[in-house]
Amino acid sequence: MRILVTGGAGFIGSHLVRRLLANEQDHVVNLDALRYSGNLENLADVAGHPHYHFVHGDIGDAPTVEKVFKEHQAEAVINCAAETHVDRSILDPGGFARTDVLGTAVLLEQARKAGVTRFLQVSTDEVYGSVVRGHSKEDDPLAPRSPYSASKAGGDLLVLSYWSTYRLPVLITRGSNTYGPNQYPEKFIPLCITNAIDDEPLPLYGDGRYRRDWLSVFDHCAAIEHVLRHGEPGNIYNIGGGHELENLSVAEGILKHLGKPRSLIRFVQDRPGHDRRYAVDCSRLRALGCTPTVSFEEGLRATVDWYRSHEGWWRRIKSGEFRTYYQQMYGKRLREGTAG
Ligand code: DAU
Repeated sequence: MRILVTGGAGFIGSHLVRRLLANEQDHVVNLDALRYSGNLENLADVAGHPHYHFVHGDIGDAPTVEKVFKEHQAEAVINCAAETHVDRSILDPGGFARTDVLGTAVLLEQARKAGVTRFLQVSTDEVYGSVVRGHSKEDDPLAPRSPYSASKAGGDLLVLSYWSTYRLPVLITRGSNTYGPNQYPEKFIPLCITNAIDDEPLPLYGDGRYRRDWLSVFDHCAAIEHVLRHGEPGNIYNIGGGHELENLSVAEGILKHLGKPRSLIRFVQDRPGHDRRYAVDCSRLRALGCTPTVSFEEGLRATVDWYRSHEGWWRRIKSGEFRTYYQQMYGKRLREGTAG
């Protein structure tokens, strides 16, 4: 298949591009705007692959997207391009609506014109909102609570409308909290790992007892590929890791792997509108023949090892734009925080 992956220089996108290129029969075009978290270093090992092509551009720019479809004859699209960090969506919601809603709208329309045979939208379990008990099913009502999750929900609804209205063969995956190598260090796990390596505090929002279901990026990408090849058009598939944990336990696990003291934990002012828990029911994906294989213990250890052995990668990020963001997000919080 000739597959257009958007946002392929990001965290999940880059793992997905590498995975698809391992299939000899697939050709991959990566369209990425290279905003703050898009990083071509993530794909340095496959940059010269004969079946790989990179295009620098934005999914919201119709002429660019149209040109990509014309030049590369993509038959399938996997839309990984998104603004994804909840905290940043609280600071600047506009950019989230632009990329996650309007960008998706432009991409969908160009995909329809090009007559693609598959359009897979990579979405999130956050669109269901906070789930105090039980597990969200694909047909549950959407109840997003942050500008990020609301923008993703808007994108999902547009994607579904292209199925009902035009019969564009769309698929949506809703993944849970993903972790692994190459994740931008604004997210909880890489932030904690890199701070702990530097003996800096690990900021835990509120009481640290918020719960997330952790999914290895390798399992997440395997599931996306499985849905692309075997999913039923018009359907949504939840993807969970099956490892639901409190943030505090995750932070403790990281400190244990690194041999660092628990005193690095710092309870800080909570995120506004912080969702207490997400949990997805993955029986539809299991029925399609896909289950996760990486245990959290094993996945976390490998992730910690990756950050330990790739200091250049994250130190370059942490010494750039990230410093201003970190100060804005954590400066006051850490000064006023309490020890764990
Ligand atoms: O559930 C899937 C979603 O998971 C993805 O759609 C999002 O793109 C991704 O960012 C993630 O959302 P979260 O808000 O759950 O991820 P984050 O890594 O920001 O936070 C994980 C948990 O850790 C959450 O309860 C907030 C908490 N946290 C986070 C940070 C960055 C802290 O306690 N301290 C922190 O410094």
